[in-house]
Order: sequence, then structure tokens, then C-alpha cells
Amino acid sequence: MSLLNLIVITLSLLPTLTCAQILFQGFNWESSSKEGGWYNFLKNSAPKDLASAGITHIWLPPTSQSVAPQGYMPGRLYDLNSKYGSLDELKSLIKAFKDKGIKSVADIVINHRTAEKQDGRGIWCIFEGGTSDDRLDWGPSYICKDDTKYSDGTGNPDTGEDFGGAPDIDHTNPRVQRELSDWMNWLKTDIGFSGWRFDFVKGYSPDYTKLYMENTKPAFAVGEFYDGDKNLIIKWLQAVGKSNITAFDFPTKFILQNAVQGKLSKLRDSNGKPPGLIGSLPGKSVTFIDNHDTGSTQKQNPFPSDKVIQGYAYILTHPGIPSIFYDHFYDWGIKEEITKLTAVRSRNGIKPTSSVRIIAAEADLYLAEIDEKIITKIGPKLDLGSLVPPNFKVVAHGKDYAVFEKTQ
Ligand SMILES: *[C@@H]1O[C@H](CO)[C@@H](O)[C@H](O)[C@H]1NC(C)=O
Repeated sequence: MSLLNLIVITLSLLPTLTCAQILFQGFNWESSSKEGGWYNFLKNSAPKDLASAGITHIWLPPTSQSVAPQGYMPGRLYDLNSKYGSLDELKSLIKAFKDKGIKSVADIVINHRTAEKQDGRGIWCIFEGGTSDDRLDWGPSYICKDDTKYSDGTGNPDTGEDFGGAPDIDHTNPRVQRELSDWMNWLKTDIGFSGWRFDFVKGYSPDYTKLYMENTKPAFAVGEFYDGDKNLIIKWLQAVGKSNITAFDFPTKFILQNAVQGKLSKLRDSNGKPPGLIGSLPGKSVTFIDNHDTGSTQKQNPFPSDKVIQGYAYILTHPGIPSIFYDHFYDWGIKEEITKLTAVRSRNGIKPTSSVRIIAAEADLYLAEIDEKIITKIGPKLDLGSLVPPNFKVVAHGKDYAVFEKTQ
């Protein structure tokens, strides 16, 4: 074989390899209070564990100084000493993941920001960036004018939903756009992050997510559009436009957690497709079972705990970019089962845009073939009749689920 042939073959393999992403949410709502620091704790064994489980990206908690310990009330954005650990501990953790081939995703909280000081009126609206120069040192005119609690009324109106707990930043301001883009690029070049998880994207217009994507060009980014309405998420994704942006598939999470409670027929929509975002824009969907808000100790809308593994059997064999939650992997005793499922996914080259053929969707049985390579069964029904062809054999199974693989 000539060298040229080898190069051509290698290049043609690349897209499939880079597409087989699996995200891992590397924290929960309590991680900021871990004794000894969360970054140090994760560094012990997570890089090795997660690499063996086929994880390609880790979503880390918000890294900047924050009024609330979890990081979602950030103030001095350049100050990366937080309740999770110090700047040096963070850099060392990111490097440990990089050494195992895992890319780190930063949690970008930019809808709102907490001030460092009060102004002459006694209002908390004087921001400090955390550097020795004036980067991100803003005042009340950088706050949306309809945020009556904090602004001086000279910013532009908010372009999205209000966040009650802190000043909403005016993203129409060119200095805000420039300085936030510079900060994100610094997170890439100086700290080692490779991608973004955009917090609360309903809080500002998708025009600005689009702008931050264009200015920072990440290979991976996901937006938290916290809504079960698939059409709203599609509209948001379309507005952000052509880039590497994706969105969390809240519709799949909500439908799936309802379906596993004796209503598996809900996993086929009227067009015969998966009903979540993966049925419409699979390459733009990040599927998940629970996160630090819906599950963990906040439990805003948790997946039924005894059926979580059925959820993973679905998302780890279906299109979309699956995301695994820290708690499920480390605390729930299902690490081996999850790892078996990720192995089936990689072995069969299941990717975000893989095809799904739903064979059955009844109250107690969901059966679907993915890429004509594997068949996933969810639900308590035992007698599958002749629905699974004889050349498929079980390669992963557990309580009320099984995955079959084509033998040749
Ligand atoms: C998308 O990611 C790829 C790497 O996977 C990168 O080469 C490309 O430049 C990114 N696209 C944009 C528009 O940023």
C-alpha cells in the first residue's frame, strides 16, 4: 500500500472517530463542598476511569469566583480560584484529562454576573474582572435597563429572560461582546479548555450565542435551553446557525422518564421517529438522564431512580451525543453496566447521526434497530416472539433492558 493510500484511508476514518463523542458531567450540586477540593478529588482516578469508559469530553463546573459556592453566580471572571479548587489545581486537572485524550468543557455563565462593589446609590453594580488592568471592570450601564434592581437605566433592554438573583448583562454592548469573547479565548489558550457549555441561554438572544461561537470557534459547544418543547430548541439552534453548537435534549429526557413508567409507546412519534430532539436534529442533540439541577440534591425533575439504567440503555445506543452524569456513574452502582453500553456504542460506531428503525413501541416494550447493527430493547416484556432476528445476540442486559448486536 502506498503512503498516499494510507493517508487517504486514515483521513477518511477521522470524521467517524471524532464524531463518536460521549460527554461526562463531572460534578453535582454538592461538589463544591468536597473536602480537599473537587479538582484534586477528580484528578485521583477520573481521568483513567473515564478514558476506559470511552468518554471524550468532560464538562467541569463553572470555574470563576462566585458568590454562590456552586459557581452559577460568577463575579470576577478571570479569578479562577473557586470553591472547587485553585487555578493551578484546575490547570493540572485539565492536563490530566488531556493526557488521557479527554477534552475539558467550560461552563460559561454569562447571562448574569455579580458585582464586586456598591455604587454611590448603595446598589451592587460595580464589577471587577479579577485582573490588574480594567478588563471586565464594568459599571451599571453594562446592565440591561429593564433590570431595575441594579442598572442605571442606560443599558439596552434584555434580549432574553430575566435572571432574578443577579444583574443581567447587556450583551448588545460591544465592549461586553469583546471582553467576554477575549475571556473565553483565554480559557482556551491559557487554561486548556476545548469547548463550552452555555448556561441559561434563554437569558439572552441566540444572536449573541452565535457571536460568541464565531469569536471563539470551539470544536464542541452545548447550550442549556431548559425546555421540554422541541420546537423552541430547534428554533434556538437555527438562530445560532452554522457552527459546532448543540443543545441539551430536554425533550428526550422528559419523554423518556415518562415512557419508562409503563408508557413506552410514547417513544415513537406520529412520524415513526424518536420523539425527542434526536428525532429531528440528532447531530445537534446532547442526550442526558439527569444533571445537577434535574437530579442531584436539587431534584427539580428527576428520572425515576429504579429506571435510570433503562434511560442509559436508550441514550447510549441511540443517535445524539450522550452525556453521563457523575452521580449515576460513581454513586449508583451502575458503572459496569454503563461502561458495557458505551463499549457497544463505540464497537458499532454509533454516532450522533445514526439511523433508528423503531420495531415496536407498546406500553411494556420498546424495540429499535440502530444503524442495522444493534437492537435495543427496553421494558419488562419478556416474549419478543420473532422480533429480533436470529443473527443478533445479547451483548448487554440488566433490569428491563437488553442490547443485541449483529453477529456478522
Ligand atoms: C467545528 O469543529 C471542528 C473540529 O471538530 C473545527 O475544525 C471547525 O473549525 C469548527 N467549526 C467552526 C465553525 O468553528
